Amino acid sequence: IDINMGCPDKSIVDQGAGAALMKNPKRAREIIRAAKKGAGDLPVSVKTRIGWSENEIESWLAELLSEKPAAIIVHGRTKKQSFAGTADWDAIKRAVEIAKGSGVVIIGNGDIKSRKDGVRKAKESGVDGIMVGRGVLGNPWFFNHKVKIENVPVAERLEAMIEHARLFEKFLKGTKNYNVIKKHYAVYASGFDGAKGLRTELMGTKSAKQAWHVVKRFLRKNRV
Ligand SMILES: Cc1cc2nc3c(=O)[nH]c(=O)nc-3n(C[C@H](O)[C@H](O)[C@H](O)COP(=O)(O)O)c2cc1C
Repeated sequence: IDINMGCPDKSIVDQGAGAALMKNPKRAREIIRAAKKGAGDLPVSVKTRIGWSENEIESWLAELLSEKPAAIIVHGRTKKQSFAGTADWDAIKRAVEIAKGSGVVIIGNGDIKSRKDGVRKAKESGVDGIMVGRGVLGNPWFFNHKVKIENVPVAERLEAMIEHARLFEKFLKGTKNYNVIKKHYAVYASGFDGAKGLRTELMGTKSAKQAWHVVKRFLRKNRV
């Protein structure tokens, strides 16, 4: 169970949730305690940022560590930064130092561009693990060090997109609306001739099956 204490979205922080919990450590600690109590054997982790408007990793991490979650995932940005600027991996490194000896796993997150970049950032900061967000969007080959996305033929990328959509429907039908997969379509279908038109067509689909027909037609008409 991963508790989100990092989301900067206005609709979330206005409720006092997500990143707003950094401003209310007492509440944050109560939530971790309650989650751990109810979770039984399931590990409870916290995903958070380095601070609200400044780097507050020293005091904020100390609050979290005192509740001993199984892991803390640190996105190296403040709430104020949202997704702008760069992730501060020195602050993540500091988090590792602060947590030393606590038994709490520290996972670093932010701006990891490739598997190689992730391994380097992990070594330099000393984190126990890394978490990747935007880097894997439209690129399920991210973790395969033998494959570079630029070298994957467009047809293969689009086939992966359709497989993704089918799996999305298989596992999430009734839980998530089909439209959620469209943000992935937008990334898979980019960076090649005709991508814009293809995206427009994909946005109008209502199922993975329809998306597959759109892709088949596109591949028949275009040499990509
Ligand atoms: C579209 C989008 C949706 C996200 N949704 C979540 C979420 O639901 N829960 C969460 O913990 N982080 C969420 N994040 C934040 C990412 O997990 C991650 O912390 C952030 O993107 C920085 O890592 P990156 O540079 O590897 O993308 C989201 C990020 C993006 C771009």
